[in-house]
Amino acid sequence: MKVFVLAVASYAISVLAQDIDALSSLIKEVTVTSDDSGFPSLFPSETVQLTDDVIAAISRELQDNSTASLFMFGSDALSTANSTAKSHCKPLPGDSSWPSPSEWNTFNSLLGGSLIKASPAAAACYGLEYSAEKCASIISDWDTEGFQTSDPTSVMDPLYVGRSCMPPGLNYTNTCDMGAYPTYVVNVSSVAQIQLAVNFARNKGLRFVVKNTGHDLIGKASGKGALSVWTHWLKDKAYYPNFVSKDYTGPAIKFGAGVQVREAYEYAKSVQATVLGGESQSVGLAGWSMGGGHSPLSSLYGLGADQIVSIEVVLANGQFITANAEQNSDVFWMLRGGGGSTIGVMTSLTMKAYPQLPATTVTFNFTAVDGPALDAFWTGIESYVNNMQAFVDAGTYGYYALAILEDSAGNERHEFQMRPFFAPNMTIAETKTLLSPWFDVLDMLNISYNPVYTYKDNFYDAWYIGFPEETVGSDTTMISSRLMPRYVFENDTSRNQLFKDGFKNAVDNGILVIGLQLSGKGIAVDPPTDTAVLPAWRNTTTHLQFVGRFSATADWAIIQNQTLFVTNYTSVLRTLAPDSGCYLSEADFLEPNLQDAFYGVNYPQLYELKKTYDPTSLFFALTAVGSEDWEVQVEDPLPYSWNNNGRLCRKTT
Ligand SMILES: Cc1cc2nc3c(=O)[nH]c(=O)nc-3n(C[C@H](O)[C@H](O)[C@H](O)COP(=O)(O)OP(=O)(O)OC[C@H]3O[C@@H](n4cnc5c(N)ncnc54)[C@H](O)[C@@H]3O)c2cc1C
Ligand SMILES: *[C@@H]1O[C@H](CO)[C@@H](O)[C@H](O)[C@H]1NC(C)=O
Ligand SMILES: *[C@@H]1O[C@H](CO)[C@@H](O)[C@H](O)[C@H]1NC(C)=O
Ligand SMILES: *[C@@H]1O[C@H](CO)[C@@H](O)[C@H](O)[C@H]1NC(C)=O
Ligand SMILES: *[C@@H]1O[C@H](CO)[C@@H](O)[C@H](O)[C@H]1NC(C)=O
Ligand SMILES: *[C@@H]1O[C@H](CO)[C@@H](O)[C@H](O)[C@H]1NC(C)=O
Ligand SMILES: *[C@@H]1O[C@H](CO)[C@@H](O)[C@H](O)[C@H]1NC(C)=O
Ligand SMILES: *[C@@H]1O[C@H](CO)[C@@H](O)[C@H](O)[C@H]1NC(C)=O
Ligand SMILES: *[C@@H]1O[C@H](CO)[C@@H](O)[C@H](O)[C@H]1NC(C)=O
Ligand SMILES: *[C@@H]1O[C@H](CO)[C@@H](O)[C@H](O)[C@H]1NC(C)=O
Ligand SMILES: *[C@@H]1O[C@H](CO)[C@@H](O)[C@H](O)[C@H]1NC(C)=O
Ligand SMILES: *[C@@H]1O[C@H](CO)[C@@H](O)[C@H](O)[C@H]1NC(C)=O
Repeated sequence: MKVFVLAVASYAISVLAQDIDALSSLIKEVTVTSDDSGFPSLFPSETVQLTDDVIAAISRELQDNSTASLFMFGSDALSTANSTAKSHCKPLPGDSSWPSPSEWNTFNSLLGGSLIKASPAAAACYGLEYSAEKCASIISDWDTEGFQTSDPTSVMDPLYVGRSCMPPGLNYTNTCDMGAYPTYVVNVSSVAQIQLAVNFARNKGLRFVVKNTGHDLIGKASGKGALSVWTHWLKDKAYYPNFVSKDYTGPAIKFGAGVQVREAYEYAKSVQATVLGGESQSVGLAGWSMGGGHSPLSSLYGLGADQIVSIEVVLANGQFITANAEQNSDVFWMLRGGGGSTIGVMTSLTMKAYPQLPATTVTFNFTAVDGPALDAFWTGIESYVNNMQAFVDAGTYGYYALAILEDSAGNERHEFQMRPFFAPNMTIAETKTLLSPWFDVLDMLNISYNPVYTYKDNFYDAWYIGFPEETVGSDTTMISSRLMPRYVFENDTSRNQLFKDGFKNAVDNGILVIGLQLSGKGIAVDPPTDTAVLPAWRNTTTHLQFVGRFSATADWAIIQNQTLFVTNYTSVLRTLAPDSGCYLSEADFLEPNLQDAFYGVNYPQLYELKKTYDPTSLFFALTAVGSEDWEVQVEDPLPYSWNNNGRLCRKTT
């Protein structure tokens, strides 16, 4: 049993509301007594909490109950009585219901000064904030994961903030405006700060977003006029060799919500263990795992959501809870697969840890210009499609891409890249044997592909070699995708159709095809049955993405055209696998029957829980659970809800 005891210091009155030290010091650490069961205890950042007693103390301190009430907890989370009483639209700066400067000041004081007045990441390239030196460094760093994740507001797909204030070279306009970047950001380092932000945003009816890394492909971490909670600095880590719960006993690692893939892998290696994460170094564990989360180890151990054994969350009513198989199991179910930005802010997650294991990684590529070589190119691709099921059944992963590319002289060629093929628990010799049915075909076709094999005795080292940093931050693509199931591969007719429409014709139509060859049901461990993961994941052999491309300076009309084109083209995959679905973190915001495609049979239950735990719709993100009740009144020349750059209003039915 955990016992929380609040320790509020008695405090001398007569302090100004704006006195940061005085107000923020009302929020003290709670004393946590935990037993010795091996169950994770709270991180130091999680023991600093807001409670009713603290709010009463704030009220006394300010001698102003109405200001103090801005930070009160929501009434019973299970009451939906007042959800319809809330206003129709969320306010923007300048509206009469926007908080006053003194309310923002009080808020910042309670936060201990961690409120940031946001400005776009490239502001130093424009107008009054112009600095040639700063702008040059922004331009050179912009496409790095490090720049994007360490900025409080930037998101990696700026298309969805309205392409506003892009650095010169990637700019669509010659101006810098806020677009869909939030107005204020709380740089959180404690649970109490998240609770204050959640309560303030809910009580004032503000648009509210959570940014972790900003990786989301439709900019779900942005919102015009929003208050944002930035979880990036919640970096704690702790190893529990003997974790015990109702359905998992064994080693586990608890991570703060701001921990990123590379940090998680490094920490796991340091305790001679392995955890799952994405392929990309800087993806955040929080958004990744809540949305399902695929990994180079998925064909062995399943998805990110399957790894979670316990979480800590600040719910929409401001209350801080632990959710796992024993307590708050409905929240636990929802946040393992139901996506980010739904009913709460996750502050930490505890994941299963596996023994260290060796792995082989293979990187290669091949190209063709035309004629017989191009025919051979396609025969080589067809052979990969024919072998995919066997590769997945052996527990491996492949991250592949193919497209018509242009060289610097403007000459076109077809190119296939494997970046990389990842074979956990296999030697180079075993990997070669597995790949030989495919590589024999490439050899017979005289295709030059130059595979580079690397074997390491632990996951981290193999992953680090196989997955170099990726470039991000451009607004020149738009994706549509589908999980392609085993039954398509096991049937010659449908597999041939998949090769023709999903690979050859797609590329010849100008689409960049990116795929993950993996299973959402590992061969080594059965997935838990009580998660909200889209069931179609368990049948998956490849997660196939069609990427439409345009230039950074393309007109909105061209982007609209490309978007509609890719959405429509993906019907070839929907027809082949009508009962499958899409990976919600890498999918099309225009997906037909979106709720069914992203959430499947889980949707009705997810929607009920959304109404129960977030009756006032504090949380909103495009395509997230419950988002169909709202529209973003987009200011760019695009239809409503095509990006985050507009006022957020309830749909009138
Ligand atoms: C270069 C690149 C590589 C990728 N590689 C992979 C991969 O290998 N495997 C894979 O499965 N996916 C991958 N993705 C997709 C990635 O998993 C999703 O974009 C995921 O949403 C990222 O989560 P995040 O927390 O890093 O990002 P964010 O964009 O910050 O957050 C994503 C969503 O989760 C919400 N959220 C974030 N933190 C919290 C929190 N603490 N509490 C509540 N809500 C929160 C945000 O509000 C937002 O809605 C990749 C994306 C990119 C751009
Ligand atoms: C503030 O609230 C407290 C308790 O709820 C009450 O005792 C006090 O009179 C209130 N003060 C004002 C100024 O309304
Ligand atoms: C609903 O709101 C009204 C006024 O804002 C308040 O008096 C009432 O107590 C609320 N009811 C519930 C169930 O929260
Ligand atoms: C992009 O920025 C440069 C430098 O500020 C400017 O000269 C150019 O006109 C801008 N491009 C567009 C399309 O506005
Ligand atoms: C955010 O807070 C962290 C400490 O938690 C600090 O190191 C960092 O500099 C802050 N960032 C900004 C932009 O305020
Ligand atoms: C293709 O593979 C070769 C050999 O491994 C490598 O040198 C080259 O950089 C790769 N090209 C691309 C575009 O990845
Ligand atoms: C790794 O391979 C060995 C045999 O080579 C096997 O005993 C072990 O179970 C495998 N581990 C996993 C996680 O599959
Ligand atoms: C491959 O090359 C060999 C020797 O150069 C040649 O004999 C053979 O016909 C070629 N095969 C194909 C399919 O082009
Ligand atoms: C194989 O796929 C084709 C085309 O999708 C379908 O018509 C046929 O019924 C399938 N065959 C079997 C045995 O499922
Ligand atoms: C998985 O595929 C089988 C057919 O091979 C089908 O019967 C089943 O419904 C599928 N399950 C899901 C969850 O899509
Ligand atoms: C729209 O996209 C299609 C397919 O890429 C292309 O053929 C057509 O020319 C585009 N139309 C415009 C107006 O851009
Ligand atoms: C939509 O896709 C289908 C199937 O590929 C195609 O026949 C049709 O022409 C497309 N429609 C548009 C408007 O692009």
